[in-house]
Amino acid sequence: MILPIRLYGDPVLRCGAEDVVGDSASVQQLIDNMIETMRGASGIGLAAPQVGRTERIFVADLAAEIQHEHVSEGALGPMTFINPEIVRESEEESEFEEGCLSIPDICETVKRSERIRVTYLDRHFRPQELDVGGLPARVIQHEVDHLEGIFFVDRISEFRRRLLRRKLREIAHGKVEADYALYR
Ligand code: NI
Repeated sequence: MILPIRLYGDPVLRCGAEDVVGDSASVQQLIDNMIETMRGASGIGLAAPQVGRTERIFVADLAAEIQHEHVSEGALGPMTFINPEIVRESEEESEFEEGCLSIPDICETVKRSERIRVTYLDRHFRPQELDVGGLPARVIQHEVDHLEGIFFVDRISEFRRRLLRRKLREIAHGKVEADYALYR
């Protein structure tokens, strides 16, 4: 089922997610819905708070980007990250233009670590560890931020954020259009 996506300004996106304690039908249903919602919106990542939930889960379509022996899920399928923790970040950083399904129409250059190591449970609740760089590292950092209540626009300069203030306020008031379902 496609779920409406929460917009910047929605309190659930600021409150931080909580660890999932065990598998359940409702967790599996949530994962299915998140994958369907991400794909329906042509996104490459989606975190639970973006659909109004507080489980520490995100999904990401990194298949084409990651070829890693430790990824047990199908190489072409979307990946599920339950209780992810970034346990190592490279000092080397890179800049890349990011967007977010919860902040339609805004793209900004964000500086992040070039490589990371992340630990998580896959959707079968098997522990996994992944060392990645480039786009997958960026997507994972962006999604883990969502689980901590952080947006990519929190990571740009004060100057850039000031330029966006009016537009962000409009988004927070729902004055924005997207070609996917928004929660209003
Ligand atoms: Ni996002």
